[in-house]
Amino acid sequence: MLKIIEYPNIILRKTAQAVTSFDAQLKEVAKEMYNIMLTDDGIGLAGPQVNINQRIIIIGKLDAKEYTVYLNPEITYFSKDKEIGEEGCLSLPHIFGLVKRSKKIHLKYYDLEGNKIKEKIKGLKATVIQHEIDHLNGILFIDKAEEITRGQDLLDKLKNKLEKNV
Ligand code: CO
Repeated sequence: MLKIIEYPNIILRKTAQAVTSFDAQLKEVAKEMYNIMLTDDGIGLAGPQVNINQRIIIIGKLDAKEYTVYLNPEITYFSKDKEIGEEGCLSLPHIFGLVKRSKKIHLKYYDLEGNKIKEKIKGLKATVIQHEIDHLNGILFIDKAEEITRGQDLLDKLKNKLEKNV
């Protein structure tokens, strides 16, 4: 069973490896990731967050039991037009912060069948995808946040814990 890895676990700081086999096992992982995301009320989840060291992200729709799996996702265009929004993360419960992201992106990725897909994305979905791809590169929203809006005390405590472990 997969479970959510929480900050400051160093697993979250690893760079995930490219998916190379689009097989049944990968589909199973995607399904399990979706179930965890749904249970924990998230709208996006990246492999490293459940100790899967592969470039896989899952994006769910808020109001429907549907989801999309993006494998080896790569942003090929970031709009210069940016917007600041409040973000949270299943790996950093109770912590929120303001992050500036491009409003529009162009995305290249593979689906579970190994088909190469290109998509233009805007709005909340674009924000979530940028957040999740950061996870694949060991980057967390707290690294980019201009301001922590909620949970600063908790974050300080966790950072202390990290320093003591190093
Ligand atoms: Co996250």
